[in-house]
Amino acid sequence: MVESDPTPSAREPRLVPIRRLIPGRGRDLMDALVGVADDVGEEVVRLNFGALRPYLISHPDHVQHVLRDNQGNYIRGGDSLMWRALERLFGEGILSEGAPWAASRARLQPMFTAKRVESLVGGMSAALNEGADALAPGQQVEMAREVSRLVCLAINRVLFGDRIPIDDAMLIVQHQDVIARSVRWRILAPFIPDAVPMPGDRAFRNAVKAIDDLVLPVIRRVRENPDGRDDVLHNLATATDDQGRLLPERPVRDDVVATFATTTETTYVVLAWLWPILHHRPDIAERLYAEIDRVVVAGQPISYAQLGELTYTRQVVDELVRHYPSAWMVPRTAVRDDVLNGVRITAGSTMLMSPFVTQHMSAFWDRPQEFDPDRFAPDAPKRSHRWAYLPFGGGAHSCIGMYLFQLEAPLIIATLLSRFRFRPHAAEMPHRQLAASMRPREKIVMTVEAHRQPARS
Ligand code: HEM
Repeated sequence: MVESDPTPSAREPRLVPIRRLIPGRGRDLMDALVGVADDVGEEVVRLNFGALRPYLISHPDHVQHVLRDNQGNYIRGGDSLMWRALERLFGEGILSEGAPWAASRARLQPMFTAKRVESLVGGMSAALNEGADALAPGQQVEMAREVSRLVCLAINRVLFGDRIPIDDAMLIVQHQDVIARSVRWRILAPFIPDAVPMPGDRAFRNAVKAIDDLVLPVIRRVRENPDGRDDVLHNLATATDDQGRLLPERPVRDDVVATFATTTETTYVVLAWLWPILHHRPDIAERLYAEIDRVVVAGQPISYAQLGELTYTRQVVDELVRHYPSAWMVPRTAVRDDVLNGVRITAGSTMLMSPFVTQHMSAFWDRPQEFDPDRFAPDAPKRSHRWAYLPFGGGAHSCIGMYLFQLEAPLIIATLLSRFRFRPHAAEMPHRQLAASMRPREKIVMTVEAHRQPARS
C-alpha cells in the first residue's frame, strides 16, 4: 500500500549490497537491477553504490506514487543522477524544474498536440522519402547514423522550418553523442562537486560550445527577421513574456537545444536496435515486410491514412521502446521525508526509476526478455498494471513527444523497408551501453540491398 504521510513507525530501507549490482559474466547493470527488482517485489530498497545510495523504485505502484500521486515531493535536479549533469547542456528550460520548466512546458506543449503532430505527417514523410533516395544497393551504412540522418531531415523540415542545414544538424547529433557518453562519469558520481574535474568534463564543455556555435546564429537570424512561419523554432525564437516582450536569448536557446536533442537522440537510439533484431527474428521480419509491402508504395511518401494501416509496424515500435527504452533511467530527488509501502524515504535522497527495469519485471510481463511485438496486438490481454509500461515517463513531466515518435518511427521503418533490405556484418546482437540514453555499444554496420515490391493486384 502507498501512503503519503510520513509516520514515525516507518521502517528503514534494506540496503542491497554492491556485489549484487556489479556487472559480470554476461550480465550488465540493467540485468542486475531487474534481478533485484524481481526479488524484492513490493519492498522498497536502497542500492549500495558506495557514496551513492539511491532508492530503487521499480514496482509500478511505487513508480506511480513518485511520478504522479506525490509528484510535488519528487523533483528533478538536486543530486538526482543525471539531471544536475545535463543542466549544463539544457539550462533552465523544459528539462529543468519549477517555474522555468512550467513556463517552457506551457510554451512547448501546444506545439505537440495530437492535431498539430498529425498535420506534420505529410512533411515528415516527404523528407524521409527524399532522404532514402541517398541510399543505394551495395552501400555499407552504420544504422544509428543512417537513422539519425533521416530523423534530422524529418525534424528539421517540420519543426525547424529547414533552417538548420543537414550537415550542421548531423554535427549537432555528433556533439550530443559526445555529451551523452562523457556525462556518464557525472551520472555515476553525482556527489562529486562540479569544481572537482572528472573524465569527460572537457569533452562535455567543448561539445556544448560547439552546439551553441551552430544553434545560436540560427536563432538570432529568426529573431532578427521573423518570417511568421508557424513552426517550433520560429515560435520559440519569437516567444514573448506576459508583458509582450521578446524572451531573452538564454531561455530560447535552452528550449531549442532541448527540443533538438529530445527529438533526435531518443528516436534514433531506439530505432538502431531494430535492424539486428530483424536479422535474428525472421518471423518478425517477414510479418513486418509483408505489411509494409501491402500498405506502402516504394518511393512515394506515406500518407496519414496509410500510416494507420501499419498496425504490426506500430506493435514493433511499441515493443522496441519496452525492450530498449532509450530513457532507461528517470531519476528524482525527494524534497521532504515520505513513506512508501511502510519504508522511510529521507529528504534529499535520490529515487531511481527505470522504465527498463519495470518493463522487464517478471511479475508484470510474460517472458520479459523476449522481443515480442504481439504483446501490443489489439487483441492481446490487457496489461497487468498501467504503470508497468512507462517508456515515455508519466505525471507532470511526461514526454511531450510521445505521439510524434509514435508516428515518426513507423514512417522511418516503412520508408526504408519499402525500398531496401539491410544485411548485417556482425552475427551478434549488440550489447547495451548505458549513457544518458541506452544505446547499442557496437556499431551496427549493414549492407544495403535492393527490395522489389511484389506486383499489386
Ligand atoms: C523513443 C522516443 C522517446 C522516449 C523513449 C522518450 C522518453 C521520455 C521520458 C521517459 C520522459 C520523462 C522524463 C522525466 O520524467 O524526467 C520524457 C520527457 C520529455 N520528452 Fe521524450 N521521449 C521520446 C521522444 C521524444 C520526442 C520525439 C520529443 C519531442 C518533442 C520528446 C520530448 C520530451 C520532452 C520535452 C520531455 C520533458 C517534458 C517535461 O519535463 O515537461 N521526447 N521523454
